[in-house]
Amino acid sequence: MQDGKKTLYSAIQPTNNLTIGNYLGAIKNMTALQNDYNCFYAVADMHAITVRQQPAELRAKTLSLIALYIACGIDPEKCTLYVQSHVPAHAQLAWVLNTFTYVGEMERMTQFKDKSARHADNINMGLMDYPVLMAADILLYGADYVPVGEDQRQHLEITRDIAQRFNNAYSPTFTVPEGIFMKVGAKIGDLQSPDKKMSKSAENPNGSVFLSDDKDTIIRKFKRAVTDSGSEIYYDPVNKAGISNLLGIYSVFSDKTVQEAERDFCGVGYGEFKLAVGEAVAEKLAPIQREQARLLEDKQYLNEILKKNSEYASRTAGRTLAKVYKKIGFYQL
Ligand code: TYM
Repeated sequence: MQDGKKTLYSAIQPTNNLTIGNYLGAIKNMTALQNDYNCFYAVADMHAITVRQQPAELRAKTLSLIALYIACGIDPEKCTLYVQSHVPAHAQLAWVLNTFTYVGEMERMTQFKDKSARHADNINMGLMDYPVLMAADILLYGADYVPVGEDQRQHLEITRDIAQRFNNAYSPTFTVPEGIFMKVGAKIGDLQSPDKKMSKSAENPNGSVFLSDDKDTIIRKFKRAVTDSGSEIYYDPVNKAGISNLLGIYSVFSDKTVQEAERDFCGVGYGEFKLAVGEAVAEKLAPIQREQARLLEDKQYLNEILKKNSEYASRTAGRTLAKVYKKIGFYQL
């Protein structure tokens, strides 16, 4: 921990394959901000089990996500990179926070409603309680900021409400966090239906570009991306959702502003534009994929990082939990 720096928290679920939406909405900012903040970045495996997982797959995807974080440029010597289930305080604080959260609030969460519809045979308590666990994640570390995509905004709001409720009931205990959203990347659209967010579990696999896709697959998906009538390339998310989504993807992947991206494609046809976006994405992802594969060969190194970092995370989280237990009146030995 470096003094004087504010704290940043974020996490990603190790479910399915991560998409370029996860990269642009979250990982890009997590990487960019690591030098200026004390960062805690987790693999949210406890959130993942709210939908049924294959145990062997969950284990493999957990390590794979740790390798991906590092391959994307997150430095495990600077950031506390760890697995959520390795720090028991998450579950412990979530239990306490449950008693500061109303059932009606959880029932109104958009993601809960969506997931309940998609997993109608398994609407378990965890699925509903998911935002409370997320609040526990964030509040345990005193996070000032949380870089996430637009779809997590509502969960962040409820985290703020829960923190304030607890602070008002006792005395200031939790930092009330704020979200950090990418200007362009916060809501990457599905390539086949740009009004919907690109998702790990899309019905049409051509709509999502996975971080593990090879170059040919990436180019094919971009070539098939839905565009709009007309032939000009400019940013107008309301009337030109498809083209604007592609411009956004291109601009963040090539570190250019949207205006610069528009200039690059002035007078260019849609076909050529889509190919260029695909190429920019493939070019950026290839070295990340190679580095992730290399890291996964060295399980011992990854395990050492996890062990060291989860000890540090446990100590930090344990301090917050101890304060909470004391304030609510749990008997102390
Ligand atoms: P998850 O695993 O669904 O997504 C990880 C991150 O990717 C962002 N994201 C997107 N951003 C832009 N465009 C998209 N199409 C897109 N799809 C996903 C998400 O907003 C997220 O930032 N509940 C969280 C994980 C979590 C968490 C936390 C996050 C658990 N505890 C504490 C922050 C703080 C989730 O399921 O993200």
